Amino acid sequence: MDKLLANKVCIITGAAQGIGKSIAEHFAADGAVVYACDRQKGSMDEWVKSCAATCNTKVFPLYFDVTDAMAAKTAFMTIFKQEGRIDVLVNNAGVIFNKKIGMILREETELMFRVNVIAVIEMVQLVSRLMARGHSGSIVNIASITAVLGSPGQSAYAATKGAIVSFTKSAAKELAGQGIRVNAVAPGIVRTERFAELYEANGEKIDTRIGRIALGRLGTPDDVAAACVFLASDKASYISGQILGVDGCASI
Ligand SMILES: NC(=O)c1ccc[n+]([C@@H]2O[C@H](COP(=O)([O-])OP(=O)(O)OC[C@H]3O[C@@H](n4cnc5c(N)ncnc54)[C@H](O)[C@@H]3O)[C@@H](O)[C@H]2O)c1
Repeated sequence: MDKLLANKVCIITGAAQGIGKSIAEHFAADGAVVYACDRQKGSMDEWVKSCAATCNTKVFPLYFDVTDAMAAKTAFMTIFKQEGRIDVLVNNAGVIFNKKIGMILREETELMFRVNVIAVIEMVQLVSRLMARGHSGSIVNIASITAVLGSPGQSAYAATKGAIVSFTKSAAKELAGQGIRVNAVAPGIVRTERFAELYEANGEKIDTRIGRIALGRLGTPDDVAAACVFLASDKASYISGQILGVDGCASI
Protein backbone atom coordinates (compact mmCIF):
# COMPACT_ATOMS: atom_id res chain seq x y z
CA MET A 1 0.00 0.00 0.00
CA ASP A 2 1.23 3.51 -0.77
CA LYS A 3 2.39 5.54 2.19
CA LEU A 4 0.01 8.44 2.80
CA LEU A 5 2.71 11.06 3.43
CA ALA A 6 5.51 9.77 1.18
CA ASN A 7 8.24 12.42 0.92
CA LYS A 8 6.07 15.19 2.35
CA VAL A 9 8.08 17.69 4.37
CA CYS A 10 6.30 17.97 7.72
CA ILE A 11 6.86 20.11 10.81
CA ILE A 12 5.40 18.98 14.14
CA THR A 13 5.68 21.20 17.21
CA GLY A 14 5.73 19.91 20.78
CA ALA A 15 7.15 16.59 19.57
CA ALA A 16 9.30 15.65 22.56
CA GLN A 17 6.57 13.64 24.26
CA GLY A 18 2.90 12.72 24.36
CA ILE A 19 0.66 13.39 21.37
CA GLY A 20 3.31 15.33 19.40
CA LYS A 21 5.82 12.49 19.61
CA SER A 22 3.21 10.03 18.41
CA ILE A 23 2.27 12.32 15.51
CA ALA A 24 5.95 12.53 14.49
CA GLU A 25 6.31 8.74 14.68
CA HIS A 26 3.15 8.12 12.65
CA PHE A 27 4.19 10.69 10.04
CA ALA A 28 7.60 9.02 9.70
CA ALA A 29 5.97 5.58 9.42
CA ASP A 30 3.83 6.98 6.61
CA GLY A 31 6.91 8.14 4.71
CA ALA A 32 7.14 11.82 5.68
CA VAL A 33 10.36 13.77 6.09
CA VAL A 34 9.80 14.88 9.68
CA TYR A 35 11.06 17.96 11.50
CA ALA A 36 10.24 17.28 15.16
CA CYS A 37 10.27 20.55 17.12
CA ASP A 38 10.34 21.18 20.84
CA ARG A 39 11.93 23.62 23.25
CA GLN A 40 14.24 21.54 25.45
CA LYS A 41 17.58 20.98 23.74
CA GLY A 42 18.54 17.33 23.42
CA SER A 43 15.10 16.01 24.45
CA MET A 44 14.45 14.33 21.09
CA ASP A 45 17.96 13.35 19.98
CA GLU A 46 17.64 9.67 20.86
CA TRP A 47 14.20 8.71 19.61
CA VAL A 48 14.45 10.60 16.32
CA LYS A 49 17.49 8.46 15.40
CA SER A 50 15.73 5.17 16.05
CA CYS A 51 12.52 6.44 14.45
CA ALA A 52 14.39 7.42 11.26
CA ALA A 53 16.12 4.04 11.13
CA THR A 54 12.93 2.05 11.76
CA CYS A 55 10.86 4.02 9.27
CA ASN A 56 13.63 4.44 6.69
CA THR A 57 13.02 8.16 6.34
CA LYS A 58 14.56 11.43 7.53
CA VAL A 59 13.59 12.63 11.03
CA PHE A 60 15.30 15.74 12.38
CA PRO A 61 15.10 17.27 15.86
CA LEU A 62 14.78 21.05 15.90
CA TYR A 63 14.91 23.01 19.14
CA PHE A 64 13.11 26.33 19.58
CA ASP A 65 10.41 27.86 21.73
CA VAL A 66 7.24 28.43 19.70
CA THR A 67 6.67 31.75 21.46
CA ASP A 68 9.94 33.05 20.01
CA ALA A 69 8.80 34.28 16.58
CA MET A 70 12.33 34.98 15.36
CA ALA A 71 13.50 31.49 16.30
CA ALA A 72 10.47 29.96 14.58
CA LYS A 73 11.15 32.01 11.45
CA THR A 74 14.78 30.93 11.37
CA ALA A 75 13.75 27.27 11.79
CA PHE A 76 11.14 27.42 9.01
CA MET A 77 13.52 29.24 6.62
CA THR A 78 16.23 26.66 7.32
CA ILE A 79 13.82 23.82 6.52
CA PHE A 80 12.57 25.57 3.39
CA LYS A 81 16.11 26.15 2.11
CA GLN A 82 17.10 22.56 2.90
CA GLU A 83 14.04 20.82 1.41
CA GLY A 84 12.78 23.34 -1.15
CA ARG A 85 9.28 23.27 0.31
CA ILE A 86 7.16 22.73 3.42
CA ASP A 87 4.07 20.55 2.92
CA VAL A 88 2.60 20.18 6.41
CA LEU A 89 2.62 22.01 9.74
CA VAL A 90 1.06 20.43 12.83
CA ASN A 91 0.63 22.97 15.63
CA ASN A 92 0.62 20.61 18.60
CA ALA A 93 2.74 22.34 21.28
CA GLY A 94 0.48 23.40 24.13
CA VAL A 95 0.40 24.18 27.83
CA ILE A 96 -2.35 23.86 30.42
CA PHE A 97 -2.92 25.04 33.97
CA ASN A 98 -5.84 23.31 35.67
CA LYS A 99 -7.24 26.08 37.85
CA LYS A 100 -10.69 26.97 39.13
CA ILE A 101 -12.06 30.46 38.47
CA GLY A 102 -10.81 32.74 41.22
CA MET A 103 -7.47 30.90 41.40
CA ILE A 104 -6.16 31.50 37.87
CA LEU A 105 -3.03 33.66 37.80
CA ARG A 106 -2.72 36.26 35.07
CA GLU A 107 0.73 34.90 34.14
CA GLU A 108 -0.77 31.45 33.63
CA THR A 109 -3.48 32.78 31.35
CA GLU A 110 -0.91 34.82 29.44
CA LEU A 111 1.41 31.85 28.97
CA MET A 112 -1.45 29.63 27.75
CA PHE A 113 -2.50 32.27 25.22
CA ARG A 114 1.09 32.87 24.11
CA VAL A 115 1.83 29.18 23.48
CA ASN A 116 -1.61 27.84 22.50
CA VAL A 117 -2.88 30.77 20.41
CA ILE A 118 -0.45 33.56 19.54
CA ALA A 119 2.37 31.21 18.55
CA VAL A 120 -0.03 29.22 16.35
CA ILE A 121 -1.21 32.36 14.56
CA GLU A 122 2.37 33.50 14.02
CA MET A 123 3.51 30.12 12.73
CA VAL A 124 0.58 29.88 10.35
CA GLN A 125 1.51 33.32 9.02
CA LEU A 126 5.12 32.23 8.51
CA VAL A 127 4.46 28.84 6.98
CA SER A 128 1.57 29.92 4.75
CA ARG A 129 3.85 32.37 2.93
CA LEU A 130 6.24 29.51 2.20
CA MET A 131 3.47 27.03 1.29
CA ALA A 132 1.85 29.59 -1.01
CA ARG A 133 4.96 29.56 -3.22
CA GLY A 134 4.05 26.01 -4.23
CA HIS A 135 0.29 26.67 -4.06
CA SER A 136 -0.07 23.70 -1.73
CA GLY A 137 0.00 22.82 1.95
CA SER A 138 -1.88 21.38 4.91
CA ILE A 139 -1.99 22.85 8.40
CA VAL A 140 -3.39 20.85 11.32
CA ASN A 141 -4.00 22.61 14.64
CA ILE A 142 -4.53 20.63 17.82
CA ALA A 143 -7.59 22.02 19.60
CA SER A 144 -9.52 20.20 22.35
CA ILE A 145 -12.98 18.88 23.13
CA THR A 146 -13.02 21.45 25.97
CA ALA A 147 -13.42 24.20 23.35
CA VAL A 148 -16.96 23.03 22.63
CA LEU A 149 -17.97 21.09 25.75
CA GLY A 150 -16.36 23.22 28.48
CA SER A 151 -14.60 21.69 31.46
CA PRO A 152 -14.60 22.81 35.10
CA GLY A 153 -11.12 23.88 36.18
CA GLN A 154 -10.06 24.42 32.58
CA SER A 155 -11.92 27.62 31.61
CA ALA A 156 -8.85 29.65 30.61
CA TYR A 157 -7.29 26.70 28.77
CA ALA A 158 -10.63 25.99 27.04
CA ALA A 159 -10.72 29.62 25.91
CA THR A 160 -7.37 29.17 24.16
CA LYS A 161 -8.66 26.09 22.34
CA GLY A 162 -11.89 27.90 21.43
CA ALA A 163 -9.69 30.56 19.84
CA ILE A 164 -7.95 27.85 17.84
CA VAL A 165 -11.28 26.55 16.55
CA SER A 166 -12.28 30.05 15.38
CA PHE A 167 -8.87 30.76 13.92
CA THR A 168 -8.84 27.45 12.03
CA LYS A 169 -12.13 28.17 10.28
CA SER A 170 -11.23 31.71 9.20
CA ALA A 171 -7.69 30.75 8.18
CA ALA A 172 -9.11 27.89 6.07
CA LYS A 173 -11.35 30.27 4.15
CA GLU A 174 -8.60 32.84 3.72
CA LEU A 175 -5.84 30.45 2.65
CA ALA A 176 -7.93 28.21 0.36
CA GLY A 177 -7.13 30.46 -2.61
CA GLN A 178 -3.45 29.75 -2.05
CA GLY A 179 -3.97 25.99 -2.13
CA ILE A 180 -3.56 25.63 1.64
CA ARG A 181 -5.95 23.57 3.77
CA VAL A 182 -6.36 24.30 7.48
CA ASN A 183 -8.08 21.87 9.84
CA ALA A 184 -8.08 21.11 13.55
CA VAL A 185 -8.20 17.92 15.56
CA ALA A 186 -10.07 18.17 18.85
CA PRO A 187 -9.03 15.34 21.17
CA GLY A 188 -10.99 14.24 24.21
CA ILE A 189 -8.98 13.07 27.20
CA VAL A 190 -5.80 11.43 25.96
CA ARG A 191 -3.55 9.42 28.22
CA THR A 192 -0.20 11.26 28.05
CA GLU A 193 2.48 12.37 30.52
CA ARG A 194 0.50 15.53 31.08
CA PHE A 195 -2.68 13.57 31.61
CA ALA A 196 -0.98 11.58 34.33
CA GLU A 197 0.10 14.80 36.02
CA LEU A 198 -3.28 16.46 35.78
CA TYR A 199 -5.66 13.73 36.79
CA GLU A 200 -3.90 10.76 38.33
CA ALA A 201 -1.69 12.82 40.64
CA ASN A 202 -4.85 14.55 41.94
CA GLY A 203 -6.24 11.15 42.81
CA GLU A 204 -9.18 11.81 40.51
CA LYS A 205 -11.13 8.71 39.53
CA ILE A 206 -10.57 8.07 35.85
CA ASP A 207 -13.63 5.83 35.78
CA THR A 208 -15.98 8.81 36.14
CA ARG A 209 -14.40 10.33 33.04
CA ILE A 210 -14.55 7.08 31.10
CA GLY A 211 -18.25 6.83 31.99
CA ARG A 212 -18.90 9.88 29.79
CA ILE A 213 -17.12 8.38 26.80
CA ALA A 214 -19.48 6.30 24.63
CA LEU A 215 -16.66 4.18 23.22
CA GLY A 216 -15.71 3.27 26.79
CA ARG A 217 -12.03 4.19 26.94
CA LEU A 218 -9.66 7.15 27.06
CA GLY A 219 -7.98 8.29 23.87
CA THR A 220 -4.41 7.39 23.02
CA PRO A 221 -1.79 9.53 21.31
CA ASP A 222 -2.03 7.08 18.39
CA ASP A 223 -5.75 7.88 17.96
CA VAL A 224 -4.92 11.57 17.56
CA ALA A 225 -1.92 10.91 15.33
CA ALA A 226 -3.98 8.78 12.93
CA ALA A 227 -6.42 11.67 12.43
CA CYS A 228 -3.52 14.05 11.79
CA VAL A 229 -2.00 11.71 9.18
CA PHE A 230 -5.31 11.65 7.31
CA LEU A 231 -5.85 15.44 7.42
CA ALA A 232 -2.25 16.08 6.37
CA SER A 233 -2.50 13.68 3.43
CA ASP A 234 -3.82 14.22 -0.09
CA LYS A 235 -6.69 11.86 0.81
CA ALA A 236 -8.16 14.90 2.60
CA SER A 237 -7.65 17.24 -0.36
CA TYR A 238 -11.31 18.42 -0.28
CA ILE A 239 -11.41 18.87 3.50
CA SER A 240 -10.64 22.24 5.04
CA GLY A 241 -11.95 24.36 7.90
CA GLN A 242 -13.06 21.24 9.81
CA ILE A 243 -12.73 20.42 13.49
CA LEU A 244 -12.34 16.65 13.74
CA GLY A 245 -13.29 15.30 17.16
CA VAL A 246 -11.15 12.39 18.34
CA ASP A 247 -12.97 11.76 21.57
CA GLY A 248 -14.67 8.36 21.60
CA CYS A 249 -18.04 9.98 20.88
CA ALA A 250 -17.91 12.17 23.99
CA SER A 251 -18.74 15.47 22.30
CA ILE A 252 -22.11 14.72 20.71
N1 LIG B 1 -3.60 15.06 26.63
C1 LIG B 1 -4.86 15.44 26.49
O1 LIG B 1 -5.77 14.91 27.16
C2 LIG B 1 -5.21 16.49 25.47
C3 LIG B 1 -6.57 16.69 25.19
C4 LIG B 1 -6.93 17.66 24.25
C5 LIG B 1 -5.96 18.42 23.64
N2 LIG B 1 -4.65 18.23 23.95
C6 LIG B 1 -3.67 19.07 23.25
O2 LIG B 1 -2.75 18.23 22.58
C7 LIG B 1 -1.46 18.86 22.53
C8 LIG B 1 -0.40 17.93 23.13
O3 LIG B 1 -0.80 17.57 24.43
P1 LIG B 1 -0.01 16.51 25.33
O4 LIG B 1 -0.98 15.93 26.27
O5 LIG B 1 0.81 15.61 24.46
O6 LIG B 1 0.93 17.51 26.15
P2 LIG B 1 2.41 17.33 26.75
O7 LIG B 1 2.53 18.36 27.81
O8 LIG B 1 2.65 15.90 27.10
O9 LIG B 1 3.33 17.73 25.51
C9 LIG B 1 3.36 19.05 25.03
C10 LIG B 1 4.70 19.29 24.36
O10 LIG B 1 4.71 20.66 23.92
C11 LIG B 1 5.97 21.20 24.26
N3 LIG B 1 5.88 22.65 24.44
C12 LIG B 1 5.17 23.30 25.40
N4 LIG B 1 5.41 24.61 25.30
C13 LIG B 1 6.28 24.80 24.28
C14 LIG B 1 6.90 25.94 23.72
N5 LIG B 1 6.70 27.16 24.21
N6 LIG B 1 7.72 25.76 22.67
C15 LIG B 1 7.96 24.52 22.17
N7 LIG B 1 7.42 23.40 22.68
C16 LIG B 1 6.58 23.54 23.73
C17 LIG B 1 6.39 20.49 25.55
O11 LIG B 1 7.79 20.59 25.78
C18 LIG B 1 5.89 19.09 25.30
O12 LIG B 1 6.87 18.28 24.68
C19 LIG B 1 -1.61 20.19 23.29
O13 LIG B 1 -1.88 21.23 22.39
C20 LIG B 1 -2.82 19.93 24.16
O14 LIG B 1 -3.45 21.11 24.55
C21 LIG B 1 -4.25 17.28 24.84
